[in-house]
Amino acid sequence: MKKILVIHGPNLGLLGKREVNVYGTITIDEINEELKKRAKALKASVSIIQSDHEGEIVEAIGKSASKFDAILINPAAYTHTSVAIRDAISAVQIPAVEVHLSNIYAREEFRHTSLIAPVAKGQVSGFGLQSYLLGLEAAVSAAKK
Ligand code: DQA
Repeated sequence: MKKILVIHGPNLGLLGKREVNVYGTITIDEINEELKKRAKALKASVSIIQSDHEGEIVEAIGKSASKFDAILINPAAYTHTSVAIRDAISAVQIPAVEVHLSNIYAREEFRHTSLIAPVAKGQVSGFGLQSYLLGLEAAVSAAKK
C-alpha cells in the first residue's frame, strides 16, 4: 500500500470561512474526508497535517522519506516565499505533488511564482477540491516502489 503524506499549509485551517469567493465554502475537514475516501479507492493511505508554521512543515517533509512514498502538498502562501520548503522537498527522495484550490496564475502577480514547482513532480492548480483529488492520484502513481 502506498503511503502519502498530505500537508496543508498556512491559513488552510480557515477554509469554509476564508475568502469564500476564492476558495469556496468547503472546509479542511471535508477535503480530508474526500482524500481518505479516494485514498481507499486507490488502495493507498493518507496521513494528513495542517500547519501555519514554516519550520513545522520543513520538519515534516524532512522526516517523511522513511515513512512515506510520496507527498501531496498545498504550501499555501509559502508557495511564493519559502526557499526552506523548496529545499526540504528537494532534499527528500520521494516525489511531491503541489496543489492549489485556486488558479494561482489567474490571480495577483505575486502568486504567479511558485518556488515549489521546480522541485515538485508536478502541480495541479485551480480545481478546488478536485485539485487535491487529482493531485492524490498523481502522488499515488508517482510514489516510490
Ligand atoms: C492557495 C493559493 C495561495 O496563493 C494562497 O496563499 C493560499 C491558498 C490555493 O490553494 O489556492 O493560501 O495555495
